[in-house]
Amino acid sequence: MNIDITTLRSKNYKSRDEAFLEENLVSKEPFGQFKAWFEDACMRKEILEPNAMCLATATKDGTPSARFVLLKGYGKDGLKFYTNYGSRKAKEMEQNPRVAATFYWEVLNRSVRIEGVVEKVSEEDSVKYFHSRPVPSQIAACASYQSTPIESRDVLCEREKALEAEYMMPGKEVPKPAYWGGYIIRPNAVEFWQGQMSRLSDRIKFRKPMNGEVPDGKLLHKGDDGWVYERLSP
Ligand SMILES: Cc1cc2nc3c(=O)[nH]c(=O)nc-3n(C[C@H](O)[C@H](O)[C@H](O)COP(=O)(O)O)c2cc1C
Repeated sequence: MNIDITTLRSKNYKSRDEAFLEENLVSKEPFGQFKAWFEDACMRKEILEPNAMCLATATKDGTPSARFVLLKGYGKDGLKFYTNYGSRKAKEMEQNPRVAATFYWEVLNRSVRIEGVVEKVSEEDSVKYFHSRPVPSQIAACASYQSTPIESRDVLCEREKALEAEYMMPGKEVPKPAYWGGYIIRPNAVEFWQGQMSRLSDRIKFRKPMNGEVPDGKLLHKGDDGWVYERLSP
C-alpha cells in the first residue's frame, strides 16, 4: 500500500462556532480546567486510554527522550504516574527533574501540554498504589528491570513464573520492589489547545508569572491561585 501522507487531513476538527474562548474556561487556574477536559475525555468511549500521556525527560546536558506513561492521579498538587526507578526516564529525572508531558484526545480535538518539575511520591503512596494493581501487573513490575537489555523474552517469562509460584497463593502479598514507585509533576505551565478546522486553533496557556510581571488584562490575564494566563497564536 502506498499512502500519500501529505494529503492526510483531520476529519473532525472543530468549526468556528465551537472555538475555545476565554469565557469558556471553567476555571482560572489550570487544575480545575484540566479536570474538566480530562473528565470530558473519560466520558468518550472512543478514547480507550484518556490517561495516556507522553512524558518527555532530558539528561543533564539536554538530550531529550519521550515515552508514554499513564496518569494515575491529579489535583492541585500535581500529576502522578508510576514507573521503575531504575528506568531510563528515572535516571534522566534524577539528573534533571524538569519534564514536559502532553495529552492528545483526538476525537475531542484537544491537547494539554504540561511543563514542570518532578518529585518522587512518598514510599507509602507507592506501596498503596502498587497493591491496588492486579496481581499479574505487580508480578510484571517485579520481573522487569525496565530499560535494561535482556537476552530473550523467555528470561522474562521464567522470572514471571518463579514469582507466580512464590506469591500467587492465598494470604501472600507481592512485596513492592524498592526500584518501583511514583512521581508527581508539579507544573509551572499548562497549555490547553483546541484544534480548529481553519487551523486557527485555540491555545490558552496558564503559567506562573515571571519576576515582577504584572498582568495587563490584554495580553496577560490574572488567574487564580497565583497563576496568569494568555492566549497564544496557533
Ligand atoms: C499507553 C502506554 C502507557 C504506558 N504506561 C506506562 C506507565 O504508566 N509506566 C511505565 O513505566 N511505562 C509505561 N509504558 C511503557 C513506556 O512507554 C516505556 O516503554 C517504559 O516506561 C520505558 O521507558 P524508558 O526506557 O524511557 O524509561 C506505557 C506505554 C504506553 C504505550
